Amino acid sequence: MKLNQLYFLLLLLTYINCLPKFITKETIYKKSNNTKKENNIVSKDNDSSDIYLTLVNRKHKLPENWLEKVELVQAKNSKGREFLVEKQALEHFIALRNKLLSQGIDIELDSTYRSVERQKELWEEFEEEYGSAYCEKYVGKPGYSEHHTGLAIDVCLIKDGRVIDDNDEMIAEVEIFSKVHEVLSDYGFILRYMKGKEDITTYSYEPWHFRYVGIKAAKKIYQKGITLEEYLGDI
Ligand code: DAL
Ligand code: ZN
Repeated sequence: MKLNQLYFLLLLLTYINCLPKFITKETIYKKSNNTKKENNIVSKDNDSSDIYLTLVNRKHKLPENWLEKVELVQAKNSKGREFLVEKQALEHFIALRNKLLSQGIDIELDSTYRSVERQKELWEEFEEEYGSAYCEKYVGKPGYSEHHTGLAIDVCLIKDGRVIDDNDEMIAEVEIFSKVHEVLSDYGFILRYMKGKEDITTYSYEPWHFRYVGIKAAKKIYQKGITLEEYLGDI
């Protein structure tokens, strides 16, 4: 074998020997890991592609650019107060309210969409008036309140011409609220902060706070008696 042939052979062997180095176990592992990660993101995106099932709680912040994903529309209650609510949620709330009015129950919008700045003001107002223990039980941290989505509605009651919007007074209206809660899912709403589920929702029982999730999900959640966290497998 000539010297240049030997040189060529050596070069070839070195090259062949190097080839597997491009596909080491580590590379394969990293590749499959990436694929898994990408698949997770894809399946997560698929699950959350329904904006009405977006989870916002103490753990999950309002998603970025949220206001580009939803259409907020203006609403007025019978007292002339103005609110912003997600379009589909408002349409369903109006139908729910009419149904309840036909049963002699008057619920009204009391608090709906809130900006992060508004939630911050609220937290500070409540903290000053009732203390931080109250806030921990009833108020979401700015950025982590479901009210930022436009899909949450707090109601008050109108009873014998009087507005009932105090927490304790509303909690005492057991009979009225049980009738309200019974029909919520027919209109795509769930009772978001249930009695007995405080350890999961991390909030006290709020008979007035409804969350629009769409009729299909609302019915499943209501029938199973579970929270949105449980329904979405996020506990
Ligand atoms: N009251 C509910 C928990 C909120 O402030 O988001
Ligand atoms: Zn609320």
